[in-house]
Amino acid sequence: MGEFVVRGRRRLTGTVRVNGAKNAALPIMAATVLASRPVLLHDVPDLRDIRVMSQVLQALGAEVERQGSDIFVDPRTINNYVVPAELMQEMRASIFLLGPLLARLGAAEATQPGGCAIGQRPIDLHLYALGQLGARICDEDGRTVLRAERLRGNEVHFPFPSVGATENVLMAAAMAEGETRIRNAAMEPEIVDLAQFLEKLGATVRGAGTPDIRVTGNPHLGTTEHTIIGDRIEAATFILAVAATGGDIVVQNCMVDHLPGLWTRLKELGVIIEELDAETVRVVSEGVFKPCPVSIATAPYPGFATDLQPQFMSFLLQVPGVHLITERVFENRLGHTIELRRLGAQIVADQRVALIYGGHPLHGTVVTAPDLRAGAALVNAALIAEGETVIRGREVIERGYENLDYRLRSLGADIVAR
Ligand code: EPZ
Repeated sequence: MGEFVVRGRRRLTGTVRVNGAKNAALPIMAATVLASRPVLLHDVPDLRDIRVMSQVLQALGAEVERQGSDIFVDPRTINNYVVPAELMQEMRASIFLLGPLLARLGAAEATQPGGCAIGQRPIDLHLYALGQLGARICDEDGRTVLRAERLRGNEVHFPFPSVGATENVLMAAAMAEGETRIRNAAMEPEIVDLAQFLEKLGATVRGAGTPDIRVTGNPHLGTTEHTIIGDRIEAATFILAVAATGGDIVVQNCMVDHLPGLWTRLKELGVIIEELDAETVRVVSEGVFKPCPVSIATAPYPGFATDLQPQFMSFLLQVPGVHLITERVFENRLGHTIELRRLGAQIVADQRVALIYGGHPLHGTVVTAPDLRAGAALVNAALIAEGETVIRGREVIERGYENLDYRLRSLGADIVAR
């Protein structure tokens, strides 16, 4: 198990460019299954999850090749509708293949993705939505098998705006006969990026980014080139790091309006946020704060992003006062509080609610990353801790952050990977 070794209390200064968003690249790579000719994707981060998605596409028969920060996918030789079980277990986002395979081949098969550190993460909403478009779904000894001679547009009304289920049914609807209406759809920017990709292939998508999306399918989708949007979670991870350590950084490829829940909180606490343009922001912080209680609750977009909750908790450790964090999206996404307490953080938490007593000094020690964003929160906490912190589970963090140590070092942090 690899490690990051961090010596804290260094101010961060300089410029960092945010990579293309993992959570946009994964569904869009799955959507290349719908194309009739080769597709070229730009600004695809070189992450383990992206490499696993490439392996899944190759297992289905596609040709996939990385060319620098581009990914080339030729879907013309796809002839297999079974998602390999071992790759599904390695990366639950393989479930994004169900909709496109069903649309292209009339069948899709996958084992149920396991839960993970942050929750059970069932796929019932994915299956409900694909069923609405005509898929017949059955379980055959632990494998979910979907079949549909022809997908037909229909109304899909989600009880909860699931990001993945919205993406799966968007991709299936792009090739279905007629119109599909998705009610209570997820509104994340990654949904909008996927919708733009599907439109460039030849589908008609109206309302992406709102709770009410209408898709007119096209059985003969073409091809396109597409640049993946900047990773708003990665951007915010760097922004929260400098807000806590103190410093002055410029973050490029950061779509300012993709982080609605963050800017107000930081400005209220005295962090200076300067929009240099629509995709560049400058963040200046003294890293010292007046006592001020903060309360946040995570929610689907445009609420406070659950993927930022751990990193925001680490930031609050620097703000004197009693703070409340409520995790309303996943049922078990506060595991990082145990690891933060090892650094001296004063936190009490159950599965959904954490009370943080900010302003107490942190001291370096050995901690372990329980999941991707919790790991990022531990790196950010280590950046404000006195002394040396060893963060075990480097590979878990590198699922979502490419060259994290190199880029933090370029901002002046003392961090090495080993
Ligand atoms: C996507 O996961 C992201 N992953 C997650 O990012 C992110 O945390 C999540 O959306 C919420 O924003 C990718 O895009 C690859 P959901 P997803 O379906 O699609 C429940 C990261 O760190 N649910 O919106 O799985 C589910 O259990 C990852 O980059 C059902 O009950 O999220 C959860 O409680 C972590 N049934 C809630 O909905 C379903 O069929 C939100 O899940 C589907 C979901």
